[in-house]
Amino acid sequence: MNPSASPRTFHVKSFGCQMNVYDGARMAELLEAQGLSAAEGGEADLVVLNTCHIREKAAEKVYSEIGRLQRDDGSKPMIAVAGCVAQAEGGEIARRAPSVGVVVGPQAYHRLPELVAKAAGGVTAIDTDMPAEPKFGALPARRRQAPSAFLTVQEGCDKFCTYCVVPYTRGAEVSRPWAQVMDEARALIDMGAREITLLGQNVNAWRGEDEAGRSQGLDGLIRALDRLPGLERIRYTTSHPNDVEEGLVRAHGEVGKLMPYLHLPVQSGSDRILKAMNRSHDSGSYLRVIERFRSARPDIAISGDFIVGFPGETDEDFEATLRIVDATGYAQAYSFKYSPRPGTPAATMDGHVPAAVAGERLQRLQALLNQQQLAFNQASVGQRTNVLLERAGKHPGQLVGKSPWLQSVHLETQAAIGDLVDVEILSAGPNSLAGAEAVKQAA
Ligand code: 5AD
Ligand code: SF4
Repeated sequence: MNPSASPRTFHVKSFGCQMNVYDGARMAELLEAQGLSAAEGGEADLVVLNTCHIREKAAEKVYSEIGRLQRDDGSKPMIAVAGCVAQAEGGEIARRAPSVGVVVGPQAYHRLPELVAKAAGGVTAIDTDMPAEPKFGALPARRRQAPSAFLTVQEGCDKFCTYCVVPYTRGAEVSRPWAQVMDEARALIDMGAREITLLGQNVNAWRGEDEAGRSQGLDGLIRALDRLPGLERIRYTTSHPNDVEEGLVRAHGEVGKLMPYLHLPVQSGSDRILKAMNRSHDSGSYLRVIERFRSARPDIAISGDFIVGFPGETDEDFEATLRIVDATGYAQAYSFKYSPRPGTPAATMDGHVPAAVAGERLQRLQALLNQQQLAFNQASVGQRTNVLLERAGKHPGQLVGKSPWLQSVHLETQAAIGDLVDVEILSAGPNSLAGAEAVKQAA
């Protein structure tokens, strides 16, 4: 690593989950607070690759991404590798890719300015500590916001599902304190957010004490956010089936701003596989949790995550996964081929499923999930719903927003980004809806 001038412009490229998107936004704010300004990827003096380690050849992807950052004249920007690959690989990254100046883990990125200064002095700066004092207190205030904002309230995971790297890369479960979350929510609303999505690897494991010192779960936090003027919608993700408290279920029936949507991963429908995954729930208890939510809020949309081809998965196990999809009825879902993660217990389990078999199962599962998603979208046609306008569409005069059930809705409107409008849904595709602004009835 050669000494280089202190960077004046930066670009953050985030991969993976919503929490990485949130972290990426906070890193950008931190760099802006240091006087750097945002630039396009190819031109920036400093490029932060905010990486994801959850699946596939994540580390390889980062190395090829680093290679691509070379410019026509052979020069490179200063490169900082952040996120979960940085945490998992640490100093190995700088050894394999000497052009990397900074390696910083997800719990240490508040130190990015010092690390960048060190790298500008020619010293490779590596920080994968999981410091006891949380990073959030050290980050600058929130800045400009889109209508829909993320707010991390809980990080890390103590569940140790046997396939998953998260407990190793993000560390133990930690809840951000009540006052810190409420302050950040108020700041986001002041900056233009109309919707807040509370983020956590196990967001429903969030616990804290309110201003009066009372112990509160996620539902208490949601009820307090519901009282903030200017906020219109509240969402949260991702939940774990074993941390569902009755208060949260009730909140779905009682809190007006809480959206009727639940992302509740099940991973497999086979109890044998769920056990091998160390999921701490079975198919029956998962379906009972869904039932509780549905009786509190009958129109709640359910989303999930699935893994096919986990070690030892038989055709029969896979059929059980198709059955739980049938029994649940998903509005939307993510499904993945199992990918062995170094250092996780499943990576050394017997019963490897051939790639072709896993691929065929994934196709069958996705066909069923797509069918459910299309049916869910088609059921919206003819309905009137409210839409939070989030961005410009492809055509002039067209804006795109989200329904309460997280469907993308395209419409032509005079309204502005950030407005909530009443929309009549006219048609539905697999991934989005089209609508027209409903004519307001005279009061
Ligand atoms: N292989 C495949 N999918 C995985 N996920 C987590 N770890 C793995 C893995 N090793 C999926 C799970 C999880 C989602 C975020 O990613 O479905 O819920
Ligand atoms: Fe990973 Fe399981 Fe924790 Fe989710 S609950 S982050 S899948 S270990």
